[in-house]
Amino acid sequence: MSVATIRPERDGDAAAVDALVAQAFGPGRHAKSAYRLREGVEPVRALGHVLELNGVVAGTVRYWPVGIGGVAALMLGPIAVRPDLQGQGHALQLMQASLALARTLGHRIVVLVGDEAYYGRAGFSRIQPYGRITLPGPVDRSRVLGLELVPGALEGVSGEIRKFGVSAKVYAAGAGLTALAPPAGQQASHDNQ
Ligand SMILES: CC(C)(COP(=O)(O)OP(=O)(O)OC[C@H]1O[C@@H](n2cnc3c(N)ncnc32)[C@H](O)[C@@H]1OP(=O)(O)O)[C@@H](O)C(=O)NCCC(=O)NCCS
Repeated sequence: MSVATIRPERDGDAAAVDALVAQAFGPGRHAKSAYRLREGVEPVRALGHVLELNGVVAGTVRYWPVGIGGVAALMLGPIAVRPDLQGQGHALQLMQASLALARTLGHRIVVLVGDEAYYGRAGFSRIQPYGRITLPGPVDRSRVLGLELVPGALEGVSGEIRKFGVSAKVYAAGAGLTALAPPAGQQASHDNQ
């Protein structure tokens, strides 16, 4: 009998995860706005999860650290499930498991670019007004979605989503994230320009 498991990503999964993402998104992925935010930045290791079926990695979700107007946040993606296993709720389970851990670790905000009709199942909704939070590059504003892991965490947050490379280790540590958010109105010195 085949057994599908959702579990945290391990170091040894990296090649399988990369292959899955390359297969799911193709070479055009490098041109996407969301990809630009990941370039040269390590994912938040503690939060990556995989779907494993019979010892083989068949699904992935990863998160990247970003800053929005100086406030620390996570960016969800890429998320992919092997084509023959799609439509069985695996992606939703990948999100639920990793988002629950993110909340436990003290993360406050998660953003992504995607379809609200689908990601709404995991609690995401459109960030309104449209254009309040933007990406470095063209993107359909109605596809910029957010999730507050702490109620009210997105209140007053606006600006362009930017790389937050230097803070990857801090994010991995989870707790203490709020210390990264400067008082309202001040620009964070570690928010890459
Ligand atoms: C998106 C993806 C991860 C979903 O994986 P999954 O395990 O099939 O997801 P679930 O079983 O939890 O949910 C399936 C549902 O999502 C819907 N769905 C899948 N991709 C979608 C998309 N891009 N936009 C909106 N809905 C989508 C399916 O139609 C299905 O709907 P249904 O339950 O009403 O039939 C998978 O289709 C995939 O790997 N796609 C290729 C990579 C990709 O496009 N990733 C998302 C980038 S934003």
